[in-house]
Amino acid sequence: MNTAAQAVGWAPDSWQTKQAIQQPHYKDQAAVDVAVARLAALPPMVTSWEIEALREHITAAQKGEAFVLQGGDCAENFEECTSENIVRKLKILLQMSLVLTAGLKRPVVRIGRMAGQYAKPRSADTEIRDGVELPSYRGDLINGLAFDAATREPDPDRLLRGYERASMTLNFIRSLIDGGFADLHHPENWDLDFVGHSASADQYHRIVERIADSLDFFESITGTPIAQARRVEFYTSHEGLHLLYEQAQTRFLEHRQAWYNLTTHYPWIGMRTAAPDGAHVEYFRGICNPIAVKVGTALSIGELTRLIETLNPDKEWGRLTLIHRFGAGSLEAQLPPIVAAVQKLDTPVLWVCDPMHGNTESTADGYKTRRFSNILAELEAAFRVHESLGSKLGGVHLELTGDHVTECIGGARGLTEKDLKNAYRTQVDPRLNYEQAMEIALNIANHHAN
Ligand code: PEP
Ligand code: CO
Repeated sequence: MNTAAQAVGWAPDSWQTKQAIQQPHYKDQAAVDVAVARLAALPPMVTSWEIEALREHITAAQKGEAFVLQGGDCAENFEECTSENIVRKLKILLQMSLVLTAGLKRPVVRIGRMAGQYAKPRSADTEIRDGVELPSYRGDLINGLAFDAATREPDPDRLLRGYERASMTLNFIRSLIDGGFADLHHPENWDLDFVGHSASADQYHRIVERIADSLDFFESITGTPIAQARRVEFYTSHEGLHLLYEQAQTRFLEHRQAWYNLTTHYPWIGMRTAAPDGAHVEYFRGICNPIAVKVGTALSIGELTRLIETLNPDKEWGRLTLIHRFGAGSLEAQLPPIVAAVQKLDTPVLWVCDPMHGNTESTADGYKTRRFSNILAELEAAFRVHESLGSKLGGVHLELTGDHVTECIGGARGLTEKDLKNAYRTQVDPRLNYEQAMEIALNIANHHAN
């Protein structure tokens, strides 16, 4: 049995006795209660069998026997819950995973920031424009982006609308995969047209051909089709930020004698809500899912130690991921003491690098952007530093899209500050476009084979 099954003094709502930051202020409490009760009555999105299978994969990644690819939008939004968007995101993640598997010679665990990534932490509760002050946009699960009083008012009904869209997203992903979309014999299903003919496209197609040849070869000499090559596993994750939403679908499963959050396989705690005695850590300590915490420069060694002792008291494999996000300029100084502290505790964790959130900057024109060179530099430094400390980087966490957006500067196509306006579509943080995302995957694959 799992530790969290027995977390002392814990209940799905025990977080309510702690300080819960980054929660919306709803005006109508009765409407919130109704929405949460309705949400709690709906069937779950995922099952404990899937969650337990993911725990095994995370354990393998901790041991260096698998690699985690976690990626998707900074924030999904309701309008973009369309078949094209879901297909393109799935395609880029499948393509990247193929490149990583071929290069790293390890299974890749595919995890989308998808099917529920609808709530965002904000630096201020309100936003002021031309003297008008309104609640900040907190993600489509809470309110809308347009700057008018009605749209910005947190609406509890959105909890249900978000859950429905998350379910539709996951349902479509499952159907695509079960129907053979991810069949390795037919990678052309998930080809994204590389505009022009970039170096990445050539290298990618060579990898695809090599895999197809190997499959053909194996199947022809054994005379048996490789059934496992027809479908892949795909997992979902989101920031477990809106605690009433997370609580509503937290169930005690009799057959496991344990509590699970069934809105997603793999929820994470954001950097801003990772206080060891805060409400988010209280909620997370009692659920049995594999969980992750974002670790940034502000976290002290003392806090990190308390976090780990609270979230993984029995030092279980597959339980806890630390996603570090320091910024290219800080990683080399910040990561070593953190790795040393974890090594001293002797608690297994999965180390994942998020090279996005420590590298955000604003241009003179007011665009929030990230430089591809910084993203790559942080990732490279993460591999290097872990290795030098006898630790293992077991995964990467990226904000990306399958579209040709212009939100991050640089990459093979050399996007400049001036290009940002062409297709800047994110509502929150800048994402790698599909070429930049593929370039990151090729880079990892080329430089970090076992
Ligand atoms: C995010 O992942 O979108 C995010 C807000 O990250 P962090 O908590 O690391 O700042
Ligand atoms: Co983000």
